[in-house]
Amino acid sequence: MNRVYIKTYGCQMNERDSAAVASKLRARGYSLVESEHEADVVLLNTCAVRDQAEQKAIGKTGRLAKRKRTDPDFILGIMGCMAQNRGEALVDTLPDLDLLVGTQKFHRVPEMLDNLLESRRGLGPRPATLVDLETEAGSEETIREHGEERQVSAFVSIMQGCNMHCTFCIVPKTRGAERYRSMDNIVEEVRELAAKGTREVTLLGQIVNNYGMRQMPFVDGKSPFTQLLERVQEVDGIERIRFTSPHPRGFQRDLVEAYGCLPKLMPYVHLPLQSGSDRVLRAMRRPYTVRRFREIVEQLRAVRPDICLSTDIIVGSPGETEADFEQTRAVFDETGFDMAFIFKYSPRSGTTAADMEDDVPDDVKDARNKTLLDILARHSRRRNDSLVGGVEEVLVEGPARKGEGMFTGRNPGNRKVIFPGAPRLVGEIVPVRITESSVSVVRGELVLAGAEAAAPLHAATA
Ligand code: SAH
Ligand code: F3S
Repeated sequence: MNRVYIKTYGCQMNERDSAAVASKLRARGYSLVESEHEADVVLLNTCAVRDQAEQKAIGKTGRLAKRKRTDPDFILGIMGCMAQNRGEALVDTLPDLDLLVGTQKFHRVPEMLDNLLESRRGLGPRPATLVDLETEAGSEETIREHGEERQVSAFVSIMQGCNMHCTFCIVPKTRGAERYRSMDNIVEEVRELAAKGTREVTLLGQIVNNYGMRQMPFVDGKSPFTQLLERVQEVDGIERIRFTSPHPRGFQRDLVEAYGCLPKLMPYVHLPLQSGSDRVLRAMRRPYTVRRFREIVEQLRAVRPDICLSTDIIVGSPGETEADFEQTRAVFDETGFDMAFIFKYSPRSGTTAADMEDDVPDDVKDARNKTLLDILARHSRRRNDSLVGGVEEVLVEGPARKGEGMFTGRNPGNRKVIFPGAPRLVGEIVPVRITESSVSVVRGELVLAGAEAAAPLHAATA
């Protein structure tokens, strides 16, 4: 009765939250399984950013609930952003739900499951859905456990919530107000990870460069976030540092300069632009201009010419004209992003944008989406082609999904590299000569230590 499967929708924060729940459950004697079919308990950790994400999770819940007809002991729960967003109304549509857990209550899941199982063993009627969607002071410190198994690359949550008011965005509602973890606790978590073999950490938050802003002092002109990066840089065993996401507002000089002086900070930034039209940015209540965005990009490229850039764009937000989109297209093309997440605007009830008419027809959204995806493919391909013939430092993550003896890792620019490797290389940073490129990955061969750099060596490992 204690096999749990957690299915995660959405972003890296959700992945991190699920991992923390899994770890807490294991500590409590539950076992985590790889598929819903082997599980006595299925928990869906959900996303609310777009309607599509919610519909997926609702559809999945409906299908899973059918199992209750033949297996009344089966337990089904919804956690995270959709639980928080829709609240108890979800129980009306999905009466078979046993658990509904909000974004500040992940740490309570083991106890809630225990209670549920306890009452199942008793003779009483089936308990009503257990619901906990409250806010909780200090909950930002509860996402800290990791499993016992080694993670070469690990996520570390440094803060929760968001205080911005982007008109389209449901996140401030689902994740609550901005709260920071203490720097000491974060660094301690990173040290523990390093001791278990982690080589790369990605610091997570809705706006990481806001970290500590309202509570911690600037020191020598450095923001709390830059100070945190410096402290993580000092942790032995950690070789690479990444973070997601910063906000263009508050992307100050000290953070740009960190790319010049922190060798572990990888040359890759995910910096959400959303739109290339100042008019649309204003309507979105995004407090920066396209000019300022360009300036940040120029500064970053001046400090790290090899820096890779990624972004988020929304196409078809209320009132976006052909001329607005043309500006987005132009900035998008000119900046030459290596990676991008392009979203078709989806009205979220409860946001300010939802009061405006969703007036861009779906086929226009599709066309704009495709235009940007084509540009992205071109730039991504160009970047990958430029790697061919060169040697990339690759942090080896594990066996590739396809191809015997093939391993995957990432280069500093976060590009996936596939090459013939060996299990002992997992967790190592190895030189790989790139021989082939496609739009999304590159392939290559290990360069043997001591071998002449010029000649690629075959069957380097085995
Ligand atoms: N602060 C977070 C943003 C979380 S939402 C971060 O910077 O990573 C992730 C992305 O989803 C946003 O950047 C935005 O591009 C997209 N998004 C948010 N609300 C949306 C909506 N209503 N419709 C379409 N895309 C949306
Ligand atoms: Fe959403 Fe804007 Fe915050 S995109 S997460 S409200 S910065």
